[in-house]
Amino acid sequence: MDMPGDQSVAAKAAWPLIWPRKLNQIPKEVFVSPGLFEAELKTIFHGDIWHPVAHAAELPNPGDFKTFSLGRTPLLITRGADGKINVLVNSCTHRGTQVEMCAAGNRKEFECPYHRWAFEISGELIGCPGMSEFSPDFDKSRYGLARLRSAEFLGVVFATMGDNTPALAQWLGEDMIRAMKVILGDGRLKLLGYQKVRYQVNWKAYNDNDGYHAGLLHTAFRLLNWQGGKGAQFMTENGHMSIMAELQPLRNVGFLKDPSLITFKGQDPAKRASVLELFPIGVMVKHLDTINIRFAIAHSHDCTEVHYAYFAHQDDDEEMLRHRTRQASNLLGPCGMISMEDASIFQRIHIGSFSPGVAEFQKGVKDPYALPVDVAQNDETGQLPKWEYYRRLMNFQRAEI
Ligand code: FES
Ligand SMILES: [Fe+2]
Repeated sequence: MDMPGDQSVAAKAAWPLIWPRKLNQIPKEVFVSPGLFEAELKTIFHGDIWHPVAHAAELPNPGDFKTFSLGRTPLLITRGADGKINVLVNSCTHRGTQVEMCAAGNRKEFECPYHRWAFEISGELIGCPGMSEFSPDFDKSRYGLARLRSAEFLGVVFATMGDNTPALAQWLGEDMIRAMKVILGDGRLKLLGYQKVRYQVNWKAYNDNDGYHAGLLHTAFRLLNWQGGKGAQFMTENGHMSIMAELQPLRNVGFLKDPSLITFKGQDPAKRASVLELFPIGVMVKHLDTINIRFAIAHSHDCTEVHYAYFAHQDDDEEMLRHRTRQASNLLGPCGMISMEDASIFQRIHIGSFSPGVAEFQKGVKDPYALPVDVAQNDETGQLPKWEYYRRLMNFQRAEI
Protein backbone atom coordinates (compact mmCIF):
# COMPACT_ATOMS: atom_id res chain seq x y z
CA MET A 1 0.00 0.00 0.00
CA ASP A 2 1.21 3.47 -0.84
CA MET A 3 2.28 5.16 2.37
CA PRO A 4 3.35 8.77 1.75
CA GLY A 5 5.95 10.25 4.04
CA ASP A 6 5.29 13.09 6.44
CA GLN A 7 6.71 15.78 4.12
CA SER A 8 3.82 15.51 1.70
CA VAL A 9 1.02 15.25 4.19
CA ALA A 10 0.08 18.89 4.79
CA ALA A 11 -1.54 19.28 1.38
CA LYS A 12 -3.09 15.83 1.36
CA ALA A 13 -4.36 15.47 4.93
CA ALA A 14 -7.83 14.01 4.95
CA TRP A 15 -8.86 16.12 7.93
CA PRO A 16 -7.26 19.19 9.55
CA LEU A 17 -5.71 17.72 12.66
CA ILE A 18 -2.18 17.87 14.05
CA TRP A 19 -1.03 14.67 15.73
CA PRO A 20 0.97 14.80 19.01
CA ARG A 21 4.73 14.30 18.80
CA LYS A 22 4.70 11.41 21.27
CA LEU A 23 3.66 8.06 19.83
CA ASN A 24 1.74 7.10 22.96
CA GLN A 25 -0.72 10.01 22.69
CA ILE A 26 -3.87 9.96 20.55
CA PRO A 27 -5.97 13.11 20.03
CA LYS A 28 -9.42 12.50 21.52
CA GLU A 29 -10.97 14.38 18.61
CA VAL A 30 -10.53 11.33 16.37
CA PHE A 31 -13.20 9.49 18.39
CA VAL A 32 -15.94 12.10 18.02
CA SER A 33 -15.54 13.87 14.67
CA PRO A 34 -18.33 13.24 12.09
CA GLY A 35 -16.28 14.89 9.31
CA LEU A 36 -13.30 12.64 10.00
CA PHE A 37 -15.56 9.61 9.69
CA GLU A 38 -16.49 10.65 6.15
CA ALA A 39 -12.78 10.76 5.27
CA GLU A 40 -12.26 7.34 6.88
CA LEU A 41 -15.03 5.86 4.74
CA LYS A 42 -13.12 6.79 1.61
CA THR A 43 -9.62 5.95 2.77
CA ILE A 44 -10.19 2.94 4.99
CA PHE A 45 -13.56 1.24 4.54
CA HIS A 46 -13.69 1.77 0.77
CA GLY A 47 -9.92 1.84 0.32
CA ASP A 48 -7.17 -0.67 -0.43
CA ILE A 49 -7.81 -2.84 2.62
CA TRP A 50 -9.33 -6.30 3.08
CA HIS A 51 -12.34 -6.56 5.40
CA PRO A 52 -13.65 -9.85 6.85
CA VAL A 53 -17.34 -9.96 5.92
CA ALA A 54 -18.39 -13.59 6.49
CA HIS A 55 -17.26 -17.13 7.22
CA ALA A 56 -18.13 -19.88 4.76
CA ALA A 57 -19.84 -21.75 7.61
CA GLU A 58 -22.50 -19.02 7.75
CA LEU A 59 -23.53 -19.96 4.20
CA PRO A 60 -23.18 -23.75 4.03
CA ASN A 61 -25.70 -24.43 1.20
CA PRO A 62 -26.35 -23.06 -2.31
CA GLY A 63 -28.89 -20.25 -2.05
CA ASP A 64 -27.78 -19.25 1.46
CA PHE A 65 -27.17 -15.54 1.98
CA LYS A 66 -26.44 -12.93 4.63
CA THR A 67 -26.58 -9.15 4.51
CA PHE A 68 -23.79 -7.00 5.89
CA SER A 69 -22.20 -3.58 5.30
CA LEU A 70 -18.80 -2.18 4.49
CA GLY A 71 -18.95 1.27 6.03
CA ARG A 72 -22.26 2.46 4.61
CA THR A 73 -22.16 0.24 1.52
CA PRO A 74 -24.80 -2.51 1.88
CA LEU A 75 -23.58 -6.01 1.00
CA LEU A 76 -25.40 -9.17 -0.03
CA ILE A 77 -23.18 -12.21 0.47
CA THR A 78 -24.43 -15.38 -1.20
CA ARG A 79 -23.45 -18.96 -1.99
CA GLY A 80 -24.34 -19.60 -5.61
CA ALA A 81 -25.57 -22.79 -7.26
CA ASP A 82 -21.92 -23.48 -8.21
CA GLY A 83 -20.98 -23.50 -4.50
CA LYS A 84 -18.92 -20.30 -4.78
CA ILE A 85 -19.36 -17.36 -2.42
CA ASN A 86 -20.25 -14.00 -3.98
CA VAL A 87 -19.82 -10.63 -2.27
CA LEU A 88 -22.39 -8.41 -4.01
CA VAL A 89 -23.59 -4.87 -3.44
CA ASN A 90 -27.12 -4.97 -2.03
CA SER A 91 -28.40 -2.26 -4.36
CA CYS A 92 -30.65 -2.86 -7.36
CA THR A 93 -29.00 -1.95 -10.68
CA HIS A 94 -32.23 -0.26 -11.74
CA ARG A 95 -32.85 2.63 -9.35
CA GLY A 96 -30.64 1.61 -6.44
CA THR A 97 -33.18 0.07 -4.04
CA GLN A 98 -31.90 -2.26 -1.32
CA VAL A 99 -32.64 -5.71 -2.78
CA GLU A 100 -32.63 -7.95 0.32
CA MET A 101 -33.69 -6.87 3.82
CA CYS A 102 -33.31 -10.07 5.86
CA ALA A 103 -30.22 -10.69 7.97
CA ALA A 104 -29.81 -14.20 6.52
CA GLY A 105 -31.76 -16.96 4.79
CA ASN A 106 -31.98 -19.11 1.67
CA ARG A 107 -33.48 -18.03 -1.66
CA LYS A 108 -33.84 -19.39 -5.18
CA GLU A 109 -33.43 -15.85 -6.54
CA PHE A 110 -33.63 -12.24 -5.36
CA GLU A 111 -36.44 -9.96 -6.47
CA CYS A 112 -36.28 -6.21 -6.00
CA PRO A 113 -39.72 -5.12 -4.76
CA TYR A 114 -39.84 -1.73 -6.51
CA HIS A 115 -40.21 -2.85 -10.19
CA ARG A 116 -39.57 -6.58 -9.64
CA TRP A 117 -36.27 -7.00 -11.41
CA ALA A 118 -35.08 -10.52 -10.59
CA PHE A 119 -31.47 -11.57 -9.91
CA GLU A 120 -29.72 -14.94 -9.75
CA ILE A 121 -28.24 -15.95 -6.37
CA SER A 122 -24.85 -15.21 -7.91
CA GLY A 123 -26.03 -11.71 -8.90
CA GLU A 124 -26.79 -11.89 -12.65
CA LEU A 125 -29.96 -10.18 -13.82
CA ILE A 126 -32.57 -12.78 -14.84
CA GLY A 127 -35.22 -10.48 -16.22
CA CYS A 128 -37.32 -7.34 -15.79
CA PRO A 129 -41.04 -6.67 -16.32
CA GLY A 130 -41.63 -4.64 -19.52
CA MET A 131 -38.10 -5.22 -20.83
CA SER A 132 -39.26 -5.05 -24.48
CA GLU A 133 -40.01 -1.36 -23.93
CA PHE A 134 -36.57 -0.50 -22.47
CA SER A 135 -34.09 1.66 -24.36
CA PRO A 136 -32.71 -0.06 -27.48
CA ASP A 137 -29.19 -0.36 -26.05
CA PHE A 138 -30.30 -2.07 -22.80
CA ASP A 139 -28.08 -5.14 -22.32
CA LYS A 140 -29.32 -7.44 -19.54
CA SER A 141 -25.90 -9.02 -19.08
CA ARG A 142 -24.49 -5.67 -17.93
CA TYR A 143 -27.03 -5.20 -15.13
CA GLY A 144 -26.03 -7.86 -12.61
CA LEU A 145 -25.53 -6.75 -8.99
CA ALA A 146 -22.14 -5.11 -8.52
CA ARG A 147 -19.52 -7.52 -7.23
CA LEU A 148 -16.65 -6.81 -4.82
CA ARG A 149 -13.26 -8.43 -5.15
CA SER A 150 -13.11 -11.19 -2.53
CA ALA A 151 -10.71 -13.82 -1.22
CA GLU A 152 -10.99 -16.63 1.32
CA PHE A 153 -8.60 -17.99 3.97
CA LEU A 154 -9.60 -20.72 6.46
CA GLY A 155 -13.19 -20.09 5.39
CA VAL A 156 -13.08 -16.39 6.29
CA VAL A 157 -14.37 -14.33 3.36
CA PHE A 158 -12.57 -11.02 2.90
CA ALA A 159 -13.78 -8.27 0.56
CA THR A 160 -12.31 -5.01 -0.66
CA MET A 161 -13.55 -1.99 -2.60
CA GLY A 162 -10.03 -0.74 -3.36
CA ASP A 163 -8.43 -1.02 -6.80
CA ASN A 164 -4.91 -1.60 -5.50
CA THR A 165 -5.41 -3.88 -2.51
CA PRO A 166 -2.47 -6.33 -2.24
CA ALA A 167 -2.94 -10.11 -2.26
CA LEU A 168 -4.67 -11.33 0.90
CA ALA A 169 -1.70 -13.41 2.14
CA GLN A 170 0.58 -10.40 1.80
CA TRP A 171 -1.88 -8.13 3.58
CA LEU A 172 -2.26 -10.61 6.47
CA GLY A 173 1.44 -11.44 6.90
CA GLU A 174 2.94 -14.55 8.49
CA ASP A 175 2.21 -13.73 12.14
CA MET A 176 -1.46 -13.07 11.49
CA ILE A 177 -1.79 -16.20 9.34
CA ARG A 178 -0.37 -18.17 12.27
CA ALA A 179 -2.80 -16.48 14.68
CA MET A 180 -5.74 -17.29 12.41
CA LYS A 181 -4.70 -20.96 12.37
CA VAL A 182 -4.56 -21.02 16.19
CA ILE A 183 -8.09 -19.63 16.38
CA LEU A 184 -9.80 -21.38 13.46
CA GLY A 185 -7.79 -24.60 13.07
CA ASP A 186 -8.27 -25.90 9.52
CA GLY A 187 -11.20 -23.50 9.01
CA ARG A 188 -13.82 -26.26 8.61
CA LEU A 189 -16.32 -24.74 11.00
CA LYS A 190 -19.97 -25.01 11.94
CA LEU A 191 -21.95 -21.92 12.93
CA LEU A 192 -23.40 -22.09 16.46
CA GLY A 193 -25.14 -18.70 16.49
CA TYR A 194 -24.78 -14.96 16.99
CA GLN A 195 -24.99 -12.16 19.46
CA LYS A 196 -25.52 -8.81 17.72
CA VAL A 197 -25.15 -5.41 19.31
CA ARG A 198 -24.80 -1.73 18.45
CA TYR A 199 -22.30 0.14 20.59
CA GLN A 200 -22.51 3.90 20.94
CA VAL A 201 -18.84 4.37 20.21
CA ASN A 202 -16.42 5.21 17.44
CA TRP A 203 -15.00 2.16 15.64
CA LYS A 204 -11.45 3.05 16.71
CA ALA A 205 -12.36 2.94 20.40
CA TYR A 206 -14.20 -0.36 19.91
CA ASN A 207 -11.05 -1.80 18.42
CA ASP A 208 -8.58 -0.40 20.96
CA ASN A 209 -8.78 -3.73 22.76
CA ASP A 210 -5.62 -3.93 24.89
CA GLY A 211 -4.19 -6.68 27.07
CA TYR A 212 -3.85 -4.26 30.00
CA HIS A 213 -7.54 -3.90 30.81
CA ALA A 214 -8.60 -7.56 30.65
CA GLY A 215 -8.09 -8.54 34.27
CA LEU A 216 -8.76 -5.02 35.62
CA LEU A 217 -12.08 -4.05 34.03
CA HIS A 218 -13.44 -7.57 33.69
CA THR A 219 -13.64 -8.95 37.22
CA ALA A 220 -14.75 -12.39 36.05
CA PHE A 221 -11.86 -12.52 33.61
CA ARG A 222 -9.72 -13.25 36.66
CA LEU A 223 -11.27 -16.72 36.64
CA LEU A 224 -9.03 -17.43 33.66
CA ASN A 225 -5.91 -16.15 35.40
CA TRP A 226 -5.02 -13.91 32.46
CA GLN A 227 -2.46 -11.85 34.35
CA GLY A 228 -0.69 -14.96 35.60
CA GLY A 229 -0.59 -16.59 32.19
CA LYS A 230 2.33 -16.43 29.84
CA GLY A 231 1.99 -14.67 26.56
CA ALA A 232 3.11 -12.06 24.06
CA GLN A 233 1.79 -9.65 21.48
CA PHE A 234 2.69 -9.45 17.81
CA MET A 235 2.10 -6.41 15.65
CA THR A 236 2.47 -5.67 11.93
CA GLU A 237 3.31 -2.42 10.14
CA ASN A 238 -0.10 -2.40 8.48
CA GLY A 239 -2.06 -2.19 11.70
CA HIS A 240 -2.76 -5.79 12.70
CA MET A 241 -1.99 -7.24 16.11
CA SER A 242 -2.45 -10.46 18.01
CA ILE A 243 -2.20 -11.46 21.65
CA MET A 244 -1.33 -15.06 22.36
CA ALA A 245 -1.64 -16.10 25.96
CA GLU A 246 -1.87 -19.08 28.21
CA LEU A 247 -5.03 -19.23 30.27
CA GLN A 248 -5.03 -21.15 33.52
CA PRO A 249 -8.65 -21.32 34.74
CA LEU A 250 -8.91 -21.29 38.53
CA ARG A 251 -10.04 -24.51 40.20
CA ASN A 252 -11.89 -23.37 43.29
CA VAL A 253 -14.23 -20.63 42.21
CA GLY A 254 -16.44 -19.46 45.02
CA PHE A 255 -19.31 -17.82 43.17
CA LEU A 256 -19.37 -20.14 40.18
CA LYS A 257 -21.51 -23.13 41.16
CA ASP A 258 -20.59 -25.07 38.04
CA PRO A 259 -16.90 -24.62 37.09
CA SER A 260 -17.39 -26.72 33.95
CA LEU A 261 -18.28 -23.39 32.31
CA ILE A 262 -14.61 -22.45 32.32
CA THR A 263 -13.07 -25.84 31.63
CA PHE A 264 -10.98 -26.52 28.58
CA LYS A 265 -11.83 -29.65 26.58
CA GLY A 266 -9.92 -28.99 23.36
CA GLN A 267 -6.74 -30.54 22.07
CA ASP A 268 -4.36 -27.62 22.52
CA PRO A 269 -2.25 -28.59 25.57
CA ALA A 270 -1.15 -24.99 26.17
CA LYS A 271 -4.77 -23.93 26.79
CA ARG A 272 -3.81 -20.93 24.79
CA ALA A 273 -6.00 -17.94 24.25
CA SER A 274 -5.59 -15.88 21.12
CA VAL A 275 -6.99 -12.48 20.22
CA LEU A 276 -6.45 -11.32 16.66
CA GLU A 277 -7.25 -7.78 15.53
CA LEU A 278 -7.09 -7.12 11.80
CA PHE A 279 -7.03 -3.49 10.75
CA PRO A 280 -9.41 -1.75 10.91
CA ILE A 281 -12.11 -3.66 12.87
CA GLY A 282 -11.87 -7.37 12.16
CA VAL A 283 -11.53 -9.41 15.34
CA MET A 284 -11.18 -13.15 15.95
CA VAL A 285 -10.90 -14.66 19.40
CA LYS A 286 -10.31 -18.05 20.92
CA HIS A 287 -10.68 -18.29 24.69
CA LEU A 288 -10.69 -21.86 26.01
CA ASP A 289 -13.13 -23.68 23.68
CA THR A 290 -14.92 -20.58 22.43
CA ILE A 291 -14.26 -19.74 18.77
CA ASN A 292 -15.53 -16.28 17.94
CA ILE A 293 -15.34 -14.05 14.87
CA ARG A 294 -16.57 -10.48 15.37
CA PHE A 295 -17.83 -8.98 12.14
CA ALA A 296 -18.08 -5.24 12.75
CA ILE A 297 -19.71 -2.39 10.85
CA ALA A 298 -18.64 1.23 11.28
CA HIS A 299 -21.99 2.96 10.76
CA SER A 300 -20.94 6.46 11.78
CA HIS A 301 -18.53 8.36 14.03
CA ASP A 302 -20.61 7.28 17.05
CA CYS A 303 -22.11 3.91 16.15
CA THR A 304 -20.36 0.58 15.70
CA GLU A 305 -22.38 -2.59 15.15
CA VAL A 306 -20.81 -5.93 15.98
CA HIS A 307 -22.03 -9.39 15.00
CA TYR A 308 -20.40 -11.86 17.39
CA ALA A 309 -20.48 -15.15 15.45
CA TYR A 310 -19.68 -18.34 17.38
CA PHE A 311 -18.39 -21.52 15.79
CA ALA A 312 -17.55 -25.15 16.48
CA HIS A 313 -15.38 -27.49 14.44
CA GLN A 314 -17.23 -29.64 11.93
CA ASP A 315 -15.84 -32.82 13.50
CA ASP A 316 -17.01 -32.02 17.06
CA ASP A 317 -19.21 -34.62 18.73
CA GLU A 318 -22.52 -33.73 20.41
CA GLU A 319 -20.97 -33.22 23.83
CA MET A 320 -18.36 -30.80 22.47
CA LEU A 321 -21.03 -28.90 20.54
CA ARG A 322 -23.05 -28.46 23.74
CA HIS A 323 -19.95 -27.39 25.66
CA ARG A 324 -18.92 -24.83 23.05
CA THR A 325 -22.45 -23.42 22.78
CA ARG A 326 -22.74 -23.07 26.54
CA GLN A 327 -19.30 -21.54 26.95
CA ALA A 328 -19.74 -19.15 24.02
CA SER A 329 -23.08 -17.80 25.12
CA ASN A 330 -22.10 -17.39 28.77
CA LEU A 331 -18.46 -16.37 28.67
CA LEU A 332 -17.80 -13.99 25.77
CA GLY A 333 -19.67 -11.34 23.83
CA PRO A 334 -21.74 -8.33 24.87
CA CYS A 335 -23.48 -10.25 27.68
CA GLY A 336 -20.70 -12.71 28.46
CA MET A 337 -19.58 -13.12 32.03
CA ILE A 338 -15.95 -12.19 31.28
CA SER A 339 -16.53 -9.32 28.83
CA MET A 340 -19.89 -7.64 29.44
CA GLU A 341 -18.31 -4.49 30.92
CA ASP A 342 -16.92 -3.49 27.52
CA ALA A 343 -20.24 -1.98 26.34
CA SER A 344 -20.38 0.36 29.32
CA ILE A 345 -16.75 1.41 28.89
CA PHE A 346 -17.26 2.04 25.15
CA GLN A 347 -20.08 4.46 25.91
CA ARG A 348 -18.08 6.18 28.65
CA ILE A 349 -15.08 6.56 26.32
CA HIS A 350 -17.40 8.21 23.83
CA ILE A 351 -18.85 10.63 26.38
CA GLY A 352 -15.43 11.43 27.85
CA SER A 353 -13.84 12.03 24.45
CA PHE A 354 -15.92 15.18 23.87
CA SER A 355 -13.17 17.12 25.60
CA PRO A 356 -9.83 18.62 24.60
CA GLY A 357 -6.59 16.70 24.87
CA VAL A 358 -5.22 13.27 24.24
CA ALA A 359 -5.81 9.65 25.19
CA GLU A 360 -2.66 8.29 26.86
CA PHE A 361 -1.07 4.88 26.50
CA GLN A 362 1.40 4.14 29.32
CA LYS A 363 1.54 0.46 30.29
CA GLY A 364 4.65 -0.96 28.62
CA VAL A 365 5.97 2.34 27.16
CA LYS A 366 9.78 2.46 27.26
CA ASP A 367 10.28 5.30 24.79
CA PRO A 368 7.36 7.62 23.94
CA TYR A 369 9.10 8.70 20.73
CA ALA A 370 9.51 5.23 19.27
CA LEU A 371 7.24 2.31 18.46
CA PRO A 372 7.46 -0.60 20.92
CA VAL A 373 9.54 -3.63 20.08
CA ASP A 374 8.75 -6.20 22.78
CA VAL A 375 5.23 -6.10 24.14
CA ALA A 376 4.09 -8.23 27.07
CA GLN A 377 0.70 -9.92 27.14
CA ASN A 378 -0.77 -7.35 29.53
CA ASP A 379 0.76 -4.19 28.02
CA GLU A 380 -1.30 -1.59 26.16
CA THR A 381 1.54 -0.70 23.79
CA GLY A 382 0.45 -3.38 21.33
CA GLN A 383 -2.08 -0.85 20.02
CA LEU A 384 0.51 1.77 19.11
CA PRO A 385 1.72 0.41 15.73
CA LYS A 386 -1.93 0.31 14.67
CA TRP A 387 -2.38 3.95 15.64
CA GLU A 388 0.79 4.90 13.75
CA TYR A 389 -0.47 3.07 10.66
CA TYR A 390 -3.81 4.88 10.98
CA ARG A 391 -2.08 8.26 11.30
CA ARG A 392 0.00 7.67 8.19
CA LEU A 393 -2.93 6.30 6.23
CA MET A 394 -4.99 9.40 7.04
CA ASN A 395 -2.00 11.68 6.38
CA PHE A 396 -2.01 13.40 9.75
CA GLN A 397 1.17 15.34 10.38
CA ARG A 398 2.94 15.13 13.72
CA ALA A 399 3.52 18.28 15.74
CA GLU A 400 7.10 19.61 15.51
CA ILE A 401 7.58 19.72 19.28
S1 FES B 1 -35.31 -0.22 -8.25
FE1 FES B 1 -35.17 -2.33 -8.30
S2 FES B 1 -36.56 -2.93 -9.78
FE2 FES B 1 -36.65 -0.78 -9.86
FE1 LIG C 1 -12.71 -5.91 27.25
